[in-house]
Amino acid sequence: MNRRNFLKVASATGAMVAVSPSSIIQKLYASNGLMYTAYERVQLVGADGAPIKASALKKETNYMFNYPHVGTPAMLLDLDDPSAKDVTLKTEEGEEYLWKSGVGAKRTIVAYSAICSHQLAHPTPSDSFLQYVQKDKKTMAYKNSGVIVCSSHLSAFEAKEGAKRLSGPAVDPLASVVIEVAEDDTIWAVGVLGADRFHAYFKTFKPELKEFYGGKRKAKKLVKISAKTVVLNEYTKEIIQY
Ligand code: FES
Repeated sequence: MNRRNFLKVASATGAMVAVSPSSIIQKLYASNGLMYTAYERVQLVGADGAPIKASALKKETNYMFNYPHVGTPAMLLDLDDPSAKDVTLKTEEGEEYLWKSGVGAKRTIVAYSAICSHQLAHPTPSDSFLQYVQKDKKTMAYKNSGVIVCSSHLSAFEAKEGAKRLSGPAVDPLASVVIEVAEDDTIWAVGVLGADRFHAYFKTFKPELKEFYGGKRKAKKLVKISAKTVVLNEYTKEIIQY
């Protein structure tokens, strides 16, 4: 039995027991298990602590939450069009992994680590160079919009296909945050798929992690139970997009 078919919950005695996650109806992760890391199962909630509902997401809107670490930014999107299915992605090192699809009624909901695979640009509470560019906006990074753009050095990533690289100096896709939509329409983050940049990120941005999270150790803590999810202009002061 696949261990991911079970959730661990605390029993009344405090012991961990396994239960079938009957409320989970959709999943997004590599069926072959390659390049997938399970993290804490965390519910996405709004600034008021109320669960975010999949059907209430605004289309083509950049939502931000931190996952799987307290200090690692991630983005959530409800795209205009259904995402692709079973996309094989490749890292610079030649490792392949399978991105199954987005989730939600029309496979439009996707989530990615918002740390650029090129040189680690990422949204902070001060500014953001990395975000999805709506279809009716223009970007210098790619011929079409409706893509994720890192305006640091103009890399573009395909939001509908596991954030595979479309143009620019980045090579790897953005890592995916694996999400599930439950029967009650709530959204849960459960793991990360692909080549994440967490190690380099924690090594590179020590002063920033101190400023925003009280230090590297605190920023590295795993998010537990819930992750506050807000639109990008509530997450950051300045959005820079070319
Ligand atoms: S850091 Fe994103 S393109 Fe260079």
